[in-house]
Amino acid sequence: MCGIVGYIGNEDVKETILSGLEKLEYRGYDSAGIAILNGNGLHIYKDKGRISHLREIVDFSINGTLGIGHTRWATHGKPNQINSHPHQSSTKRFTLVHNGIIENEEELIIEHLSDATFESDTDTEAIAQLIQKFSDEGNSTDRAIRYTLGLLEGSYALAIIDNENPEVIYAAKNKSPLLLGKGNGFNMIGSDAMAMIHHTNEFFELQDKEYAIITRQDIAIYNLQGRKIERETYFGELDATDIEKGTYPHYMIKEIDEQPFVIRRLIAAYQDEHGNLKVDSDILNQIRECDRIFIIACGTSYHAGMVGKFLFERITKKPTEIHISSEFVYNTPIISEKPLFVFISQSGETADSRAVLVKVKQMGYPTIAMTNVKGSTLYRETDYQLLLHAGPEIAVASTKAYTAQIAVLAIVACAASDSCNFNMLSELSIVANVMEALCDNRELYNELAKEFLTDKKSCFYIGRHVDYYTCLEAALKLKEISYIQTEGFAAGELKHGTIALIENCTPVIAIITQEQINLNTRSNIREVRARGAAVITMSLKRISSEKDQIVIDNVHEFLTPLVTAIPAQYLSYYAALQRGCDIDKPRNLAKSVTVE
Ligand code: G6P
Repeated sequence: MCGIVGYIGNEDVKETILSGLEKLEYRGYDSAGIAILNGNGLHIYKDKGRISHLREIVDFSINGTLGIGHTRWATHGKPNQINSHPHQSSTKRFTLVHNGIIENEEELIIEHLSDATFESDTDTEAIAQLIQKFSDEGNSTDRAIRYTLGLLEGSYALAIIDNENPEVIYAAKNKSPLLLGKGNGFNMIGSDAMAMIHHTNEFFELQDKEYAIITRQDIAIYNLQGRKIERETYFGELDATDIEKGTYPHYMIKEIDEQPFVIRRLIAAYQDEHGNLKVDSDILNQIRECDRIFIIACGTSYHAGMVGKFLFERITKKPTEIHISSEFVYNTPIISEKPLFVFISQSGETADSRAVLVKVKQMGYPTIAMTNVKGSTLYRETDYQLLLHAGPEIAVASTKAYTAQIAVLAIVACAASDSCNFNMLSELSIVANVMEALCDNRELYNELAKEFLTDKKSCFYIGRHVDYYTCLEAALKLKEISYIQTEGFAAGELKHGTIALIENCTPVIAIITQEQINLNTRSNIREVRARGAAVITMSLKRISSEKDQIVIDNVHEFLTPLVTAIPAQYLSYYAALQRGCDIDKPRNLAKSVTVE
């Protein structure tokens, strides 16, 4: 959600910034802009729409070696040209891009900027105006920025240019992500490593309430009191090829196809030299010693958490609750005496989850982050960490991170259990093989999507038991990328109201993997068929019936959500493809949601 790229060096800045912004497109955005500073002054290009449109409006004859760029996901004010970043102070001396939300904008305006005129509806413009005000009062730019940062409440990642000092970019951060990239003869800033990976793999971490002065040769980090902070660089693990699509038309299908490899990578990562499960012993002790596990997550990660509750209760025999972050934080349930909080987040940046983390840390409870991004906010701020090893996930709709989350939950549940009576690693290895066979069968899902989904307005996924959780995730997947209104439903609950929505040819996709509910779900299929539904049935081989269109090879009964997810992801992909949707960047969505 919102992306920032900045560069100061000796090369022309346009391509570096534009291609850096393209690498951040996955975060979700609706407008984009760039500011280039050269000997003739500052040049700003910005508008609503994609980076491809920004490329059309940038004057490529303008050169410069200092610039900042931004992708905006609208919060304050509509996505339009005026609200797009960069924003400037009224004298045009200070120009900046901002990711985050300033919560006390109104108070700041009343108190400090009552005479200022504003062009946009954004909260960002007030930051530029405040810097201007403190600068006009005789402060150095450095001081004016520090005074301003000291007043801001809320979240921000900022890149700031002062027209009168063309040798510097200023950067600052609080709660929103920002990394500093160290180069040879140049330096960069970016919302994440992907924006800079083609230029440098060496980074400084900027922490909350710190700011940096960045020149061609140097990066200096300070706290808001102006005291210099010594910090070592670190080298990122990301490989530039990890973030390319290769021959795939979309990141989403590449990431769906990668899932068998992710499972095999996890097997290797969580295995010791004797072939046994290997999980941080502190984490296992925390699980054994707690009286209740609280899983906190949003979106797809929440659905993985539902499977996690099932796994912890069945395998580890530990009472487990699963909560939506944005609900938990303001409507906190009764917490047990010795709770353990597990935050599941692909990005590790989700503001709703972080808000819960801040709250439970204040209460003094132990916390674990399960994330795909080492060094992300949740990774840094929790007591213990579990990595998903899924590799960068770029399509907004989460696929491989979801199955990686379930696999890591299963591994941890088994490792913490005294009575796990099966070999989790070899069962996961079977899962990887079954996933591979499912991926090889993708043409079937393409055909089914064409026949059942493409021209439909609504759809239902139904299932019972653990299949119900897959139904929720499958429904989210279909609606978020194909815009078909889809509901995931507990199959037995349908008759208590929602069956009223079944009409002639309404698609209903039924998932059946558990023996004990096979016949019940099949009765529910008959009920919807009798009302005209067009049914696709997805089942596991050992309980399949002749007419089931998708039959999945057998896996352990606890691990079926790992395999049923795959056909559901492909069905969404192909339905969206046939409907001409923007698959990797669905409308209104952001991958990393850094606002509450
Ligand atoms: C956004 C994304 C979803 C994702 C959710 C939680 O809404 O569009 O795909 O599931 O955030 O993200 P997290 O990074 O915390 O797993």
